[in-house]
Amino acid sequence: MVERNPNLAKLRAGYLFPEIARRKKAVIEENPEAKIISLGIGDTTEPLSGGIVSSLVEACRGMGTLEGYSGYGAEQGMGDLREKIAEKLYRGIVKPEEVYVSDGAKCDTGRLQVMFGAEATVAVQDPSYPVYVDGSVILGQTGGYNDDASQFDGIEYMRCDASNNFFPDLSALPRTDLIYFCSPNNPTGAVATKEQLKELIDFAKKNRSILIFDAAYSAYIEDPELPRSIFEVEGSREVALEINSFSKMAGFTGVRLGWSVVPQELKFEDGTPVSKDWNRVVTTLFNGASNLVQKGGLACLSDAGYSEVEEMIHYYKTNATIIKKALTEMGLEVYGGVNSPYCWARMEGKGSWEAFEEILTQAFVVTTPGAGFGPAGEGFVRFSSFGHRDDVEEAVERLRKHLG
Ligand code: MLT
Repeated sequence: MVERNPNLAKLRAGYLFPEIARRKKAVIEENPEAKIISLGIGDTTEPLSGGIVSSLVEACRGMGTLEGYSGYGAEQGMGDLREKIAEKLYRGIVKPEEVYVSDGAKCDTGRLQVMFGAEATVAVQDPSYPVYVDGSVILGQTGGYNDDASQFDGIEYMRCDASNNFFPDLSALPRTDLIYFCSPNNPTGAVATKEQLKELIDFAKKNRSILIFDAAYSAYIEDPELPRSIFEVEGSREVALEINSFSKMAGFTGVRLGWSVVPQELKFEDGTPVSKDWNRVVTTLFNGASNLVQKGGLACLSDAGYSEVEEMIHYYKTNATIIKKALTEMGLEVYGGVNSPYCWARMEGKGSWEAFEEILTQAFVVTTPGAGFGPAGEGFVRFSSFGHRDDVEEAVERLRKHLG
């Protein structure tokens, strides 16, 4: 018999979103007539626009012709897409050869964890996207649970809540090899300012740490003063790499396309450029994003395509405004929902899972319990704005009725 990987055995529950899906299914089975509305997982719902679809169709048609057929591409991505990402999304502050096209930010996170290896020590925002911790646990970068079983011993949890303006107290943070930082944060919606990111960069530099900056929600930032990329901040190229995705930006959650940026100046302790090892991992464990999908990505970044993308973002942001307004009017303490597609609400006097169950079974609305994002998420619920407008409007009416 094969021994079970002990690291996987350390993950107590299932991954957060399948667990929510399981609970939703149970409620549907008990209430087959109920119309459940999901404001849970951040999964895009609106159809892709015509121009982007045409480019995908055209790419497929091409595959049926001798001239248009292509097999394996460059593992790092098509040259023209890397160029377009550098030019359109970074306005030239990163070089095309520093951009690595992928099948999504979650997959890149897993591959980065493989690259840094089981010995790497880790700090994460608390609360934050569960993949940082769960992936690190699977890799064996963590010890067991601490005494109150809410945190892993081997991980530094950087508490980011309203009391510290959602930015960690770095003076109290021990050195780690890696620091994950997501801005706009999933789940709180908090966006770090340039000054805060500069502080983080200086901290990473002083400690010789590497910052893994997750900018998957950056397209939702509307305030021009707020940085959309870590590379807008001075000193970042020596300490940070960035992951990002077309998922939330262009509705590609199912299509699958993302990218990472690893600057040439980022080095390991022995002087090896991180990009050298990243290239090795990408070429060994990944064969590149689908050539069809990359054409779709290119279409999103054309002038016409990008206006369509911005329209879609505006649609989801209007949903976020509707949700935030309703929750606020109901007297809840609500964060996010402005430069982010997520609203983060305190459910006074209730545990996250308790509030989640109550909203699900009474209002038939799926949310995400804050505790799933880390111990500091306890007592909160996240509302996603990814949904059809009618559903969002109906969901807030139901919430007003049951929670208001
Ligand atoms: C979320 O709901 O937090 C995310 O959409 C899940 C994901 O992107 O994997």
